[in-house]
Amino acid sequence: MADQQTVLVTGGASGIGLAIVKAVLAEGWRAFVADVNQTSLDRSRDALGEAGGKVRFAALNVTDEAAVTQCIAACEDEFGALTGLVNSAGIAKAAPALDTTAEMFRSMLEVNLIGSFVVAREAAKRMQQRGAGSIVNIASVSGILGNEGRIAYGATKGGVIVVTQVMAVELAGAGIRVNAIAPGPVETPLVQQVHTPEARAAWISTIPQRRYASADDIAGAAVFLLDGRKSGYVTGQTLCVDGGFTIAGIMTSASA
Ligand code: NAI
Repeated sequence: MADQQTVLVTGGASGIGLAIVKAVLAEGWRAFVADVNQTSLDRSRDALGEAGGKVRFAALNVTDEAAVTQCIAACEDEFGALTGLVNSAGIAKAAPALDTTAEMFRSMLEVNLIGSFVVAREAAKRMQQRGAGSIVNIASVSGILGNEGRIAYGATKGGVIVVTQVMAVELAGAGIRVNAIAPGPVETPLVQQVHTPEARAAWISTIPQRRYASADDIAGAAVFLLDGRKSGYVTGQTLCVDGGFTIAGIMTSASA
């Protein structure tokens, strides 16, 4: 089955999603890249080239339900049955709770939580026809811990973790596994917008490995979760890829 994988990657034109597309292609699998940003799509098409006919690019806004259904149909028309989905499309804004407007909250909810859910739901409808599939949702450590400034973003990512758990339970009988990855800070365009130099120093001081992740660090975990030969008995889990951030206490090698 792994030799025949077709993986849809939302947000696949940048950052973590793009690294996952590259990792999928490196496995010899097919990647369908869906992203709202046409400039990034064009740039990644130029960077990836033909990839032996194993990659396709499509404009998609995950908040548009009808477009999601069309995109998955286009992916299957192009490459045959969908075997994997990675929900990497996401947006982030940091603000203190008391400065967070309902509009900011709603915009992140629409993309990060409801958008990911709708894509997962529509992908699962296709996968259940074959009785197999793997869905990987990109959550965040901010969906697990109360990181300052992440009231809306963190809530959407906490929601992604719950969606992952519920879908894993409901779809296990259909042969579909649903997992999440919770990255710590990753060097991507998104983080470069959100993290100030002070925030960057604070993160590094609390991460036992003392560095940000590379997008490839996250891609390796995604390939593991997509590949049923490696992770066939793993479902409903949230894999923290965070250099030890979520398990650290206050006594670190720097303070001991
Ligand atoms: P990025 O900004 O490099 O990539 C995100 C991609 O999603 C962009 O190409 C963007 O055009 C696309 N996108 C945004 N809204 C969309 C929509 N409505 N429909 C379709 N595509 C849309 O960001 P990055 O860092 O690669 O983030 C990927 C995911 O990882 C996001 O869900 C983010 O919340 C999550 N994450 C990122 C972390 C980081 O430190 N960079 C840490 C934890 C989680």
